[in-house]
Amino acid sequence: MDFEKEIARRRTFGIISHPDAGKTTLTEKLLLFGGAIQEAGAVKNNKIKKSATSDFMEIERQRGISVATSVLAFLYKNFKINILDTPGHKDFAEDTFRTLTAVDSVIVVIDVAKGVEEQTEKLVEVCRMRNIPMIVFINKLDREGKDAFDLLDEVEQKLGLSVTPLSFPIGMGYDFKGIYNIYEKNINLFSGNSKKNIEETIAFDNLEDPDLENIIGETAAQTLRENLELVKGVYPEFDKKAYLDGALQPVFFGSALNNFGVRELLDCFVEIAPTPRPKKAEERLVKPNEKDFSGFVFKIHANMDPKHRDRLAFVKVVSGTFERNKPYLHVRLGKKLKFSSPNAFFAEKKEIVDVSFPGDIVGLHDTGNFKIGDTLTSGEALNYRGIPNFSPEHFRYINNADPMKAKQLNKGIDQLMDEGVAQLFTLEMNGRKVIGTVGALQYEVIQYRLEHEYGAKCTYENFPVYKACWIDPESDNDEFREFKRVKQKFLAKDKSGQLVFLADSAFSLQMTQQKYPTVKLRFTSEKE
Ligand code: G4P
Repeated sequence: MDFEKEIARRRTFGIISHPDAGKTTLTEKLLLFGGAIQEAGAVKNNKIKKSATSDFMEIERQRGISVATSVLAFLYKNFKINILDTPGHKDFAEDTFRTLTAVDSVIVVIDVAKGVEEQTEKLVEVCRMRNIPMIVFINKLDREGKDAFDLLDEVEQKLGLSVTPLSFPIGMGYDFKGIYNIYEKNINLFSGNSKKNIEETIAFDNLEDPDLENIIGETAAQTLRENLELVKGVYPEFDKKAYLDGALQPVFFGSALNNFGVRELLDCFVEIAPTPRPKKAEERLVKPNEKDFSGFVFKIHANMDPKHRDRLAFVKVVSGTFERNKPYLHVRLGKKLKFSSPNAFFAEKKEIVDVSFPGDIVGLHDTGNFKIGDTLTSGEALNYRGIPNFSPEHFRYINNADPMKAKQLNKGIDQLMDEGVAQLFTLEMNGRKVIGTVGALQYEVIQYRLEHEYGAKCTYENFPVYKACWIDPESDNDEFREFKRVKQKFLAKDKSGQLVFLADSAFSLQMTQQKYPTVKLRFTSEKE
């Protein structure tokens, strides 16, 4: 087996979007192209529907399904493609941020009628900060929507991107005639037939060819010529290096539901998207083609069976090969672990795998050894960086509602926090525990899981906090001592023991920053 070839044929990416833009539909069509699934509808159930926001039984059911669909792998033209699922629901945004540390590129899906929405803005910002290469797919062209140029402007302005269209729509909604593929120089006519899997395209090197009129009609031909002229004048030519550096984002148009424009997207994607990228560890930059294995945990999924507290840790292979039954160093614990049944993911199935390559995701059964962000290696003491915690939006005290079950409660909280369900803060003053989450939904999930998986009961109490700020570093000067004394009530330790200031309002945060300028407050837990 040629190691370098295996790396070169891997593409590991995530699809991000605001809910309902069409992420699930697009994922499904991509899998259809890979022959990984036989029919549409197979991925659909992975979604947490809007209606489920207060129905945690539904969440539990969804959680079971999403183990299988966390990673969807398929083969296309001999490329091994790994799609990492990113929940669109905003209460699970942290999950998505963490998954983005394991992707090598992303596809951003935008609804042609709604344009750039809130969740897309947040997720794209995270990708932009990390220079992750992005391709934009503007979806639902079979419906009336915004003008293509207006949308491209909106994408540039709201998302801070620099775009260049690689395909361009001919009409839209009722008048949608098809797509001109700028990258391949051909026309794909829209027939509205969703069963059509492999589209027929008509090569069009020269747009002055009068055949254009015959095919799409006089008015549409005229408009297309003008539009493409404008595209040429306004947007830069596609440059693969700029795309790979995160400095240029190609745009495709289509309709995922009708499987239209998806092949163009996929063909271009496999050609230009990055192979597994090198990753920074605290110690050094690690390249995928290094011989020794290294990888990191970016997601932990609790098993559905409450009788076995078995969990699945998702490890992204960064370098070398991961092999079954070989001992690997768990760097944080300083001990060697062996895995007899590592899982690989294929379409919506998981199966035991002997060897995995850089870019692949391996699922490891775990009984409590792993935390999000842990590094595994062949022996070198590496620590991968870059899975930050952001300040939660909601804060509540968690109280024990069953004094006989204190131990179970603590264990449950501990493990749920390792999974990254929420963040725990312990107040310096009295040791009370505060749970911070991105969405209110998580409190129900935690309460439900504590009871069903750990046999512990809890209640919550409001704790008004505006923002959690990490303090870096703790210093031993007068100003710091004064700060600690005055703000005692608002200081807590996070789970890794870092000191955190829980500001109760924007005003108090501002005042604190002014009064104690040498106390450095950070808005993520990640050290610079
Ligand atoms: P998401 O994962 O981003 O949340 O979106 P999803 O794919 O579930 O799509 C959201 C809705 O948009 C779905 O309709 C889906 O059928 C529709 N949709 C996706 N792509 C297209 C497209 O190209 N054209 C049109 N017209 N619609 C599209 P729904 O009614 O919410 O769900 P369902 O009842 O069809 O399952």
